[in-house]
Amino acid sequence: MKVFFVWFKTKTRLSIFNRISGLVPREGIEPSWGYPRTILSRVRLPVPPPRLIVTLVTAYFNHLETVLSKGGPSCTVYVVMACIIAVVNQKGGVGKTTTAINLGSYLASNGKFVLLVDLDPQSNATSGLGIDSRDLEVGTYEILLGEKSLRDVIIPTQVEGLKLAPSTQALAGAAVDLVDMDRREHRLSDALLEVRNDFDYIIIDCPPSLGLLTINGLVAVDKVLIPVQAEYYALEGLSQLLRTIGMVRQALKPELEILGAVLTMYDGRNRLSTDVMAELHRFFPDRVFKSVIPRNVRLAEAPSFGRPIMEYDPWSKGAKAYERLAKEILDLEHSF
Ligand SMILES: Nc1ncnc2c1ncn2[C@@H]1O[C@H](COP(=O)(O)OP(=O)(O)O)[C@@H](O)[C@H]1O
Ligand SMILES: [Mg+2]
Repeated sequence: MKVFFVWFKTKTRLSIFNRISGLVPREGIEPSWGYPRTILSRVRLPVPPPRLIVTLVTAYFNHLETVLSKGGPSCTVYVVMACIIAVVNQKGGVGKTTTAINLGSYLASNGKFVLLVDLDPQSNATSGLGIDSRDLEVGTYEILLGEKSLRDVIIPTQVEGLKLAPSTQALAGAAVDLVDMDRREHRLSDALLEVRNDFDYIIIDCPPSLGLLTINGLVAVDKVLIPVQAEYYALEGLSQLLRTIGMVRQALKPELEILGAVLTMYDGRNRLSTDVMAELHRFFPDRVFKSVIPRNVRLAEAPSFGRPIMEYDPWSKGAKAYERLAKEILDLEHSF
């Protein structure tokens, strides 16, 4: 029996799930941890899909349903979806934005379609990609308020395959403006539905707080990536972050998972860095990325030139580390 991987695109996860589980109830749901694209279910098909990687629209599924009802399985299809990752840590300066920009650009250089969503009023992800937020009329603020759709706001970047939903200063007021709004924690999640099918990865760069903006980020994603700076008190605050993630999981988004923690600004000569690494493994058993991001001045310089490290200095240690991190995340996808 051949195995086909089918790229599935639809409006909502729920509707896919209902459709597929309706198709093959006995197969159940595959465990999805660790795969950037969640495997929702295995579907046996009597005919191979038209291409190895196919865009399945609802109409096509209707067609399959008809074919399936006639019986005779001859291949297995794994139904997979694009992945949304939030880069979260309520501490500032730990490398969230650096990770979001550089992971995003390396995933794009691996042929993936990537959207970076800047959810920080400081707009560092926007400026780090060479875009001056003062020149922009709209950004993620208008998306959260429902005044604009994501498609109106997304702009291309200099990196092929990488697009940006920029933020502007207006976002600083969002937390207050959202308080009395309907579905205030779901506003980003709702907005992303429109473009979710256009990208392989959507990476959300969260602000340094656990306020309503970050909650919107967490509700919108499948997985959380936590950069942890190799420094004293690095792990302080992580318990609170995990509690927040647990709370979001319980009340708002049961599927939310931790993709992993990545150690940033690591200095191998420094005893402290190795201690933090050991601690991190205790905190996130099996969830610490092997790729460690070194402290590297080229990484710190790149944003002032408005370029990802991949373009600014691809041979630097920092570049190589982010390239490895992107590969590690891609390998999770390929390991099933
Ligand atoms: N691995 C690194 N080596 C050296 N400097 C770094 C590294 N990662 C980030 N920086 C710098 O540290 C500062 C904080 O990083 P940033 O990614 O903006 O953190 P956050 O988004 O968590 O606030 C920035 O000036 C950035 O350029
Ligand atoms: Mg930042």
